[in-house]
Amino acid sequence: MRKNRKLPYVPESVRTEYGFSFAKNTAYGCGGNAKVAYFPAGARQLAAVYDFLLFNEIKFVTLGNGTNVLASDRDFDGAVISTIDLKGIYRTGANTLFCRAGTKVAALLKYCAGNGFGGLEYLAGIPATCGGLVLMNGGAGGKYVGENTVGVKIYDGKFRRLSNKSCRFGQKYSVMRDKDCVIFGAELSFTPDSPENIRAKIAERLAARAGQPSGRNCGCVFKNAGGTSAGRIIDEAGLKGLSVGGAFVSEKHANFIINTGTSSSDVFALIKEVKRAVSEKTGIVLEEEVVYIGDFNDSFG
Ligand code: EPU
Repeated sequence: MRKNRKLPYVPESVRTEYGFSFAKNTAYGCGGNAKVAYFPAGARQLAAVYDFLLFNEIKFVTLGNGTNVLASDRDFDGAVISTIDLKGIYRTGANTLFCRAGTKVAALLKYCAGNGFGGLEYLAGIPATCGGLVLMNGGAGGKYVGENTVGVKIYDGKFRRLSNKSCRFGQKYSVMRDKDCVIFGAELSFTPDSPENIRAKIAERLAARAGQPSGRNCGCVFKNAGGTSAGRIIDEAGLKGLSVGGAFVSEKHANFIINTGTSSSDVFALIKEVKRAVSEKTGIVLEEEVVYIGDFNDSFG
């Protein structure tokens, strides 16, 4: 049948996966399936996928590396737009570069080290794509990528460029979290430095992270609160080691929940239990930094 070229459609060239498993594609290693996942590899493909989903009123979630998310055990009756095929980095000015959303932080830093682009070493070891990193204003050691973001290119039916200011970066927050948009890429600033210096700083950061908990986890579950480490707050509330099913609060860093099982419901119930216990013991209401995907039937408050 001839396609009606006036209606949005997904070109056959777009990589597509039916029955996309969140368990296989997220750091927690649990969660049900989405009906379909699209992997656009360029601006045109991204626009086509987005327009198709919107036109057909198919709900969707955007996924990068799947590091900072917890997907429900229930199947997701919609689509995933995966950004992992949106790869590429190029220089845009004397001290700026553009990286597409699916570029891994490790690839970005390799590129930076090779070209003498310094100032982004604090990102070393963050297991994210650049899209997810910018969306969440990720960072480490008191520095956050919003500080290096000149602008972000998004698609929301049109390609738009958001300035740093209009991204409204905050603690694990950018305005892109509240928009029905997909991040296509970000323009980041750098400071020229020698490749040797950059590599040494990256190695330093990686060594500093070596003490972080291992096992299946999403990094920090909660945002820091009132200028205090959420890990310290949870620790002082005596919750290290607390568990629900296969999920437990790390003994190494209390803001990490390690999942040894296969149930998102266990991880979810533990998050809510930590929140409840901290609130009861300290009066502090912790706020999740982890992003939920799908239906959790949140009866825990
Ligand atoms: N602390 C405890 N007990 C714990 C954890 C921490 O007493 O269980 C204490 C530490 O001893 C230290 C202080 O709390 O004195 C701060 O700890 P840390 O340096 O680990 O920093 P954080 O504020 O807990 C933040 C980020 C981390 C990032 C680290 C290091 C947030 C929510 N967390 O943690 O990011 O790796 O700094 O730069 O912003 C993430 O983004 O997923 C993440 C883990």
